[in-house]
Amino acid sequence: MDMFVVRGGQPLQGRVAVSGAKNAALPIMAAALAADGPTTLYDVPDLVDVRTMTALLRTLGVAVDRVDNDALKLEVIDDRPAIAEYELVRRMRASVCVLGPLLGRRGRAAVSLPGGCNIGHRPIDLHLRGLEALGADIRIERGYVIAQARRLHGANLYLGGACGSTVTGTCNVMTAAVFAEGTTTIEAAAWEPEVEDLGRYLNGMGAQISGLGTPTLKIEGIDRLSGTTHRIIPDRIEAATLMIAAAITRGAVTLENVRADHMTAVIRKLEEIGVRFSRTTDGAIHVAGTGPLQPADCIALPYPAIPTDVQAQLTALLTQAEGISVVTDKVFPDRFMHVSEMARMGARVRREGQSAIIAGGEPLSGASVMASDLRASAALVLTALAAQGESVVRRIYHLDRGYEQFEERLRALGADIERVVDTPANVPASLNPLTAATPDSEAA
Ligand code: EPU
Repeated sequence: MDMFVVRGGQPLQGRVAVSGAKNAALPIMAAALAADGPTTLYDVPDLVDVRTMTALLRTLGVAVDRVDNDALKLEVIDDRPAIAEYELVRRMRASVCVLGPLLGRRGRAAVSLPGGCNIGHRPIDLHLRGLEALGADIRIERGYVIAQARRLHGANLYLGGACGSTVTGTCNVMTAAVFAEGTTTIEAAAWEPEVEDLGRYLNGMGAQISGLGTPTLKIEGIDRLSGTTHRIIPDRIEAATLMIAAAITRGAVTLENVRADHMTAVIRKLEEIGVRFSRTTDGAIHVAGTGPLQPADCIALPYPAIPTDVQAQLTALLTQAEGISVVTDKVFPDRFMHVSEMARMGARVRREGQSAIIAGGEPLSGASVMASDLRASAALVLTALAAQGESVVRRIYHLDRGYEQFEERLRALGADIERVVDTPANVPASLNPLTAATPDSEAA
């Protein structure tokens, strides 16, 4: 297993390009299952989750090849398999995105239930309710969702839940409805940019989906989808993470390949905190975190509000803003495993229900910390970049699922971060209180 050794305190400077969006690429790759011709996808990041989806699609009869550094070609070569095995699904929840395409195109699917998750309770009842409304016969057997339908039919359905709509549930139901006889209307659909990107991909193959980018989708059923080419949208979560990296290190970074219109709430909140944004003449976004930082209240909600996937990174940033901040997560109210790890670096932060309360402005000091999930890992790296001295961030396999070459790109911006194997020998001596040089031990 690898870990990062980070020496904090370096302001980040320079230019970096944002990758294609993981959470757009995964459902779009899954939807290639439903096409009758080849798909070429551009700007697909090379991530562990993309490799897991590749492996899963291969078991489902799809030939997947990287044709260029950033492009994937996908083509169905065998349309008989319909079982998404536990062994692959347990590695990544987004595997559930094969359910809608399989059911819509092949009329049947057996998809392992994804199981537990470190960011809280993640049921798929809304996915199943939506597919049932389209006429699918669904049962749960031996840990698998078994779904069948001779022919799906259009329906009026509602995908709202207690914590908002469902992103991958909307992807599943929308893709299945493409093949339903008649018209489907989905109300309270998730309208995250990644859902819209999937809809644009499906329409590029001949689907008839209107209302993309709104919470009401209308889908006229068709029989067949052709192949197409499609460019994945830039990753708004990675962009936000890099913006916060600039701000937390009091640096100035220029980001290329950003859709600022997908990030209005995050950019406005960062401006309120004291981060300055400007457009460069070539269309990039310059982010300056060199001024004073102010405390803020942030609430993560479904799009277009602040995303839950940026909640942990904002918490990290607000440890540097003098005063009391509150960060609340209404999408995943239990997603706060990073809080106690940040406290190990000296952050005055505690969890209170669905919020983190931060008394910011205290200097942080390097420590050994453990990542619990993808965005928590990124937030801990950011906190370590702001801390004085050396830190170790363990279990970074979580981070590798969703950030491409993260440490190389941070290093190119001036960060002092390296990836090493997680062994006691690689833990910096400064993190061992018995061997670390202190004024007293030096004197003795
Ligand atoms: N929910 C239900 N029933 C369902 C589905 C969801 O109650 O059937 C609840 C969830 O428990 C949660 C809320 O609805 O409280 C939203 O969950 P959603 O289904 O939208 O999440 P998801 O589709 O499983 C995607 C992203 C997550 C991101 C969430 C929220 C992908 C592959 N994953 O998950 O991304 O946090 O939407 O925006 O798109 C990440 O990238 O780190 C990540 C976790």
